[in-house]
Amino acid sequence: MKVYLDNAATTQLDAQVLEEMMPYLTEFYGNPSSIHSYGRKAKSAIEKARKVVAKYLDASCSEVFFTGCGTEASNMIIKGAVRDLGVTRIISSAIEHHCVLHSVEAMQKTGVKVDFVKLDAVGHVDYSHLEELLKSDNSKTLVSLMHANNEIGTLLDLYRVSDLCKQYGAYFHSDTVQTIGYYPLDVQQLKIHFLSGSAHKFHGPKGVGFVYINNEVTVKPLLDGGSQERNMRAGTENVFSIVGLGKALELAIEKMDENRAYLSELKSYMASQLKAAIPGIKFNGDQTESGANYKVLSVSLPPNEKAELTLFNLDIAGVAASGGSACTSGSEKGSHVLEGINADPQRKAIRFSFSKYNTKEEINYAVATLAKMFTRADTKVDAI
Ligand SMILES: Cc1ncc(COP(=O)(O)O)c(C=O)c1O
Repeated sequence: MKVYLDNAATTQLDAQVLEEMMPYLTEFYGNPSSIHSYGRKAKSAIEKARKVVAKYLDASCSEVFFTGCGTEASNMIIKGAVRDLGVTRIISSAIEHHCVLHSVEAMQKTGVKVDFVKLDAVGHVDYSHLEELLKSDNSKTLVSLMHANNEIGTLLDLYRVSDLCKQYGAYFHSDTVQTIGYYPLDVQQLKIHFLSGSAHKFHGPKGVGFVYINNEVTVKPLLDGGSQERNMRAGTENVFSIVGLGKALELAIEKMDENRAYLSELKSYMASQLKAAIPGIKFNGDQTESGANYKVLSVSLPPNEKAELTLFNLDIAGVAASGGSACTSGSEKGSHVLEGINADPQRKAIRFSFSKYNTKEEINYAVATLAKMFTRADTKVDAI
């Protein structure tokens, strides 16, 4: 049996999305900058996709720009905020995705002050510390905090942070790559300056994302070149992928409640099955329904000398998941997220993440496979 439980890494392309994309690879291959009918066809497909994103966010089409990926979107915002908005301080957290963390570090090397907000043991931002940081320094500040953590699923209270940013005059960016298409996001209510998204996390193609930039702020593009994306993203547009992003988001919005109920059920089912099957098992991140992303379950395995091989053995048995652990020594490269929440380095983490294509039978198989490794009398996990 093959079971894919790594949907926070990437998702299967929806067949309906592929169908929508195909004509833009074959028949409608015009360059959207061309003024003839071929170009106009491609251009209008891009604008259709932009409308889907704008409608989902309750934004204006002029606030949505397509990018090559979520990473590009976050780089563009963080670097643009420093270069073009006079930002001299960034507040972020130690458990952001590397596209944010490394962009922040790059800005720090240019002299930008960086403050990391304190986190609790399940990865929640300490909101009073965030307020203290905002209050303590009135330099032009960008707050960059992710909506849902990709490793442990813990959710940020976007409204609370946006209120604080408004109160203290800071710009607010959220990496919403893990939540676009899974949670409603309304920028009219939220009052946020920037968001980043990526199609391959919601059953769209890889290599295409978008950035939301509130009309009240202006940042310059990362790339110098043509005037595509209203001068914000030079380079001939990845038309078929943008079409795919639009279709994938449309499908995600249409079935959001249904998918949410289904995935939440799969997650809680897996958690309860694992608890029953493996003594000493724990979970990383917030375990309440409202505190964590319903598609991510980060399992903290009981200490076991062979635990390092768990992911490998799951893979051999056909189960795809992700791993991670806090560093046990300075030389070892562990998960910066698990380290950021001070997870026990003796406990290996396995991240299972779900999609609408997963079934309970698949969960049963994954649980049984894992349980077999951890409940043997000799606790050996090197053979299945
Ligand atoms: C939270 C988060 N941000 C950003 C990214 C990067 O997105 P992309 O793969 O489109 O560059 C990912 C994907 O791994 C992610 O999970």
